[in-house]
Amino acid sequence: MTENRIKRKMRVLSICNLKGGVGKTTTAVNLAGILATDFGKRVLVIDNDQQGNASQFFQVFHPDNIGTAEILCLENEIDDCIKKTSNPNIDVVPANMNLAAANHDLISRTSGMPTQIRLREALKQVAEDYDFAIIDNGPNLEVSFINAIVSSDDFIIPVKIDKYSFYGISTLMDQIQDMSYWKPHINFVGCLVTMQHSGNQLENEGVEWLAGGHASTGNQRYKIMNTKIKYSPRVNDTTFGSELITVLSGRSQAARNYKELAAEYLEFVANNAVDDTARV
Ligand SMILES: Nc1ncnc2c1ncn2[C@@H]1O[C@H](COP(=O)(O)OP(=O)(O)OP(=O)(O)O)[C@@H](O)[C@H]1O
Ligand SMILES: [Mg+2]
Repeated sequence: MTENRIKRKMRVLSICNLKGGVGKTTTAVNLAGILATDFGKRVLVIDNDQQGNASQFFQVFHPDNIGTAEILCLENEIDDCIKKTSNPNIDVVPANMNLAAANHDLISRTSGMPTQIRLREALKQVAEDYDFAIIDNGPNLEVSFINAIVSSDDFIIPVKIDKYSFYGISTLMDQIQDMSYWKPHINFVGCLVTMQHSGNQLENEGVEWLAGGHASTGNQRYKIMNTKIKYSPRVNDTTFGSELITVLSGRSQAARNYKELAAEYLEFVANNAVDDTARV
């Protein structure tokens, strides 16, 4: 950290769903990339999944890396864990299997700083270095996930619409509600429909169910973001070359959709100020 750096106020966004394979990491890395490249924002990506997929995407993965696990276990300062990427506006706190061990250890740890607030306290140290932190969570309710929610101003739930996709959303919402002692207020940006196929009637019915009720009554089961991410085989290809979908296939629907997502989230941020005393 340099003395004459521009002072920023980092806004923290969690990407989460208890279900695996719904597009959490794809959303976290592409949203981070678009905020950084198209909007000039400084973004810190926090890999909060032992699978380390976001770290792999940004090519900072190593099984011996220090990262999120060591921050949670108070073994290292966040500054020592941050990795630079090829994009000067994106830094990453990486993760690997150490996070699985850390989650196990933290359950029984009763001394020192409360285990729920450790990531938040660490993020305070870098809050003036970034505009956004985006936390890519694993599909679980471990201590590391509690830390993510306690650190976050906003959360998005990516949802892939299929027969199994709704199970777990209510549990996730209840669990976040149960964290209110540590995190009294967090903004639900909405469910983000991912991997959507055009003109698929069953999928459309699934989205309608998710939204619940009718627009005319205003009753919603879950808030759904306006942006929907279309299925595109090119998204899978991005994992091999570690390129954003906007770089690999800028004309694909998914690339356009992720740009729309970035714009929708920035608008949400502009319209939903967070209490400065409550934030990281
Ligand atoms: N819009 C899309 N079109 C096509 N494939 C997609 C799209 N979004 C994601 N995928 C693919 O779906 C798979 C799962 O995506 P991703 O890894 O982002 O999910 P995840 O929720 O992070 O999974 P996990 O719970 O294992 O962390 C990946 O192979 C990814 O490339
Ligand atoms: Mg993932």
